[in-house]
Amino acid sequence: MVPLAEYIALRMNAERASTVTERLTPADLDRAAALLRAGRLVAFPTETVYGLGADATNDEAVAAIFAAKARPRFNPLIVHVIDEAAARRLVRFDERAALLAGRFWPGPLSLVLPRADDCPVSLLASAGLDSLALRIPAHPLPRALIRAAGLPIAAPSANRSGRVSPTTAEHVLDELDGRIAAVLDGGTCRVGIESTVVDLIGPRPRLLRPGGVAAEAIEELVGRLERASAGEAAPRSPGMLESHYAPSLPLRLEARQVGPDEALLAFGARPPQGAKEMRWLSRKGDLTEAAANLFAALRALDRPEFSAIAVMPIPDHGLGLAINDRLRRAAAPRP
Ligand code: TXA
Ligand code: MG
Repeated sequence: MVPLAEYIALRMNAERASTVTERLTPADLDRAAALLRAGRLVAFPTETVYGLGADATNDEAVAAIFAAKARPRFNPLIVHVIDEAAARRLVRFDERAALLAGRFWPGPLSLVLPRADDCPVSLLASAGLDSLALRIPAHPLPRALIRAAGLPIAAPSANRSGRVSPTTAEHVLDELDGRIAAVLDGGTCRVGIESTVVDLIGPRPRLLRPGGVAAEAIEELVGRLERASAGEAAPRSPGMLESHYAPSLPLRLEARQVGPDEALLAFGARPPQGAKEMRWLSRKGDLTEAAANLFAALRALDRPEFSAIAVMPIPDHGLGLAINDRLRRAAAPRP
């Protein structure tokens, strides 16, 4: 049972009208869980930093995270689960994962593993990749929230894009007030830096981000970690690679007409006629809905019977920036 009285306040700040309850009660926790189940954003403390949480299985809720953070591109997000059994339902574990999970979970370690075939987590949370980053937080407050919501929770650090990660509820509200439904206030985060991210997709484990668990402690269990070499300017994060997420078919951007062999990725009420097949990103021209549908739509249209995917113009503001970034990289020349 969580010692709830330690966690002082649930702040509801929809429409900027913050109500602060003096003591976080089980009813407050239920309220926060209900908000998550309804697709709303709830920030919460973890032992590392505050996270900006959403139902990881809800495409539009995950898209709302990117909108709130004003992220100019879709980085994959860390998904938080209650225990190893819950993790094993979402990804494929191997021996290395089992060793690391046994030692460091719950705690500040995130593991990147292959998505299970029937993984219910939004493709947007994986930024279209076949992998998923998972973490089991140790902090009792997110644990109680995950249990109450009964969901895997996608949560990047609860800051605006380009700003430092927040370690108090005040930091969260400074940047996100009016953009989130609530923040659970658990005081100052104990660790204060983000989780260590280890990629277990390839034959050699790779350190994607140093963090709360020391790399040396991980190497004791799974051997040497590959790292970005000293001369390498940017970490080899998947989002940095120009054509990493490319579908098999070529993409034709800014399409106002469509060829008879092309599939059409449509946006807005009046798509050109004549496509062999069409998927709407958003019929009503809503960028959050478009982001939510992006990766599933690209996959659905990426079939050999088409010559290309024609993509209608997407406005270059709000989430349109991240959508266009993603589309440009998908259309970039392949290595
Ligand atoms: O401590 C933390 O990890 C915090 C708390 C809230 O849990 N969360 C956090 O999330 O820092 P975020 O989204 O700010 O950082 C996620 C990191 C990014 O560097 C991202 O590139 C990497 O994890 N990542 C996530 N999924 C990945 C994937 N499938 N493949 C490679 N890298 C991934
Ligand atoms: Mg972050």
